[in-house]
This record gives sequence, C-alpha cells and structure tokens, in this order.
Amino acid sequence: MLMLYFSGTGNSKYIANLFCEKTGAKSYSIEENIDFKKEIEEHDTIAFCYPIYVSSIPRIMKDFVLKNAENLKNKKLIIFCTQLLFSGDGARIFTDLLPKNYGEVIYAEHFNMPNNICNTKILSIKNGEKTKKYTKAAKKKMDRICKDLEKGKIKKRGFNKISEIVGKSQSKHWPSVEERNKSSVKVDEDCVKCGLCAKLCPMKNLNLTDDGISQNGNCILCYRCVNACPKKAITVLINKKPKEQYKGING
Ligand SMILES: Cc1cc2nc3c(=O)[nH]c(=O)nc-3n(C[C@H](O)[C@H](O)[C@H](O)COP(=O)(O)O)c2cc1C
Repeated sequence: MLMLYFSGTGNSKYIANLFCEKTGAKSYSIEENIDFKKEIEEHDTIAFCYPIYVSSIPRIMKDFVLKNAENLKNKKLIIFCTQLLFSGDGARIFTDLLPKNYGEVIYAEHFNMPNNICNTKILSIKNGEKTKKYTKAAKKKMDRICKDLEKGKIKKRGFNKISEIVGKSQSKHWPSVEERNKSSVKVDEDCVKCGLCAKLCPMKNLNLTDDGISQNGNCILCYRCVNACPKKAITVLINKKPKEQYKGING
C-alpha cells in the first residue's frame, strides 16, 4: 500500500504515520519532489489523507489528484480526512475529483483532531496534554480500521445521502472564500524577516524580500505559517493576531 498525504499543521501527517506504522504502507507527503506516477503504478492500494477546509479538500490535494487521476483508474482507494468536528462528506468528496468508475473505495474514515485556526477567539487551541485525548481516540480508531481492512470489511464514512447534503451545504461557500483570500496573508511589524514562513509554505506563496514578506496570491489557508511564525506576526483569513499558536499534535 502507498499513503499520500497533505498536512498543513501536522494532524493529517500524524494519521498518515499511524496508518503506515500499523500496515507497513509506504508514505509520502504530496509536497515531496518524487516521481509519484511511478510510485502509484507500483501499488495496488493507494491511501490518501488530508485536512478538511469547510467540508472541502485543500486545493493542493485537489490539484494533485486531478493531475494523477488517470493513474488511479484501477486502484483500490482508502480515504482519510482530518477535521476539528465535522465535515459531512469530507471523505466522499475525494471521489468527486475522479471520473466515474475510477478507483474503488475500500475504506473511508474521518478523524477528529485539534483545531489549527489560531487567530479567532471562537475556536480554542489545544497544545501539550490537551492533545492527548485526540491521539488516544485516533489510535483506537486506526486499530479498528486496520482490523477491518484485514478482514476485508468495507466502511465508507461520509458516503450516505445525509452526509452529502450537510457537506454540500457548507462546501458550496468555500470556493468563493478561498478565492477572496488567496492574497490574505498579512505580516505585521513584529516580523523579523527570518524567512521561516517562506520556507514552510506548501504553495511557495510567500517570498522573503529586502522589504519583508511578499505573496504570490496562491494561499490555500492551511495555517502553517500562522502557527509557525516565531513572532506571531502572520495572519490569514481572519485579520487577528494569534494569542496562542497550534504547536501540532505532538507539540
Ligand atoms: C481554513 C480551515 C478550514 C477548516 N474547516 C473545518 C471544517 O469545516 N470542519 C472541521 O471540522 N474542521 C475544519 N478545520 C480544522 C482542520 O480540518 C483540522 O484542524 C485538521 O485536522 C488540520 O489538519 P492538518 O494539521 O493536517 O493541516 C479547518 C481548518 C482550516 C485551516
């Protein structure tokens, strides 16, 4: 098996790693610079893992799947998505990216993980001990999934009609929000021009210049830079300085 994942702030990477530890699957972040076509060709079952953004798939993952759709034609697919609370059909929407009858979904599951939107008071940030309940629940769920897979039991979370209706009622808003916020990265006067954000950005949206950080209008709102900035100088989407940053599931 092959696991391909995108993770903005580490939650989806954690789930991908759990799966690979248990199954021995080979794992790559889709940000890596490797021959994915060759890797996909060499495996029968391809697992995907990504975070949910308003019941939608991050654009970087969508683009990756669209680019590799032809290679996924005859593959068995396992789909995992991570979310704070709820995505409706977060795993099912992956299949919308492929032509009909491309890929056979043998398992789909959602994992509730800590929030990574750190610049709004409405959502609290959980670090350290507070992440333990998420890792415990995720491990338990992954144990169950691996047992199911061994037995050939098929489970497809988010594939029923109600999940689809609820998911679509949320995801219909996302394309316009994403479009409006492609250039929403704001860097304040606390920036020390360390360039970490530019180095970490999965979309190469940020550049370190003599004048500070510039952007290419390609932000996918993954919140990696907002959470990683050593000076809490960056915001996206919501123009509020973070009080506490998300340090990641093991942070
Ligand atoms: C822009 C954005 C939108 C999000 N929308 C949702 C959502 O609609 N429902 C939800 O349960 N979680 C939502 N989340 C939370 C993330 O899906 C969750 O924290 C995820 O595990 C992050 O994964 P990562 O660390 O691999 O990037 C959102 C996060 C971001 C950054």
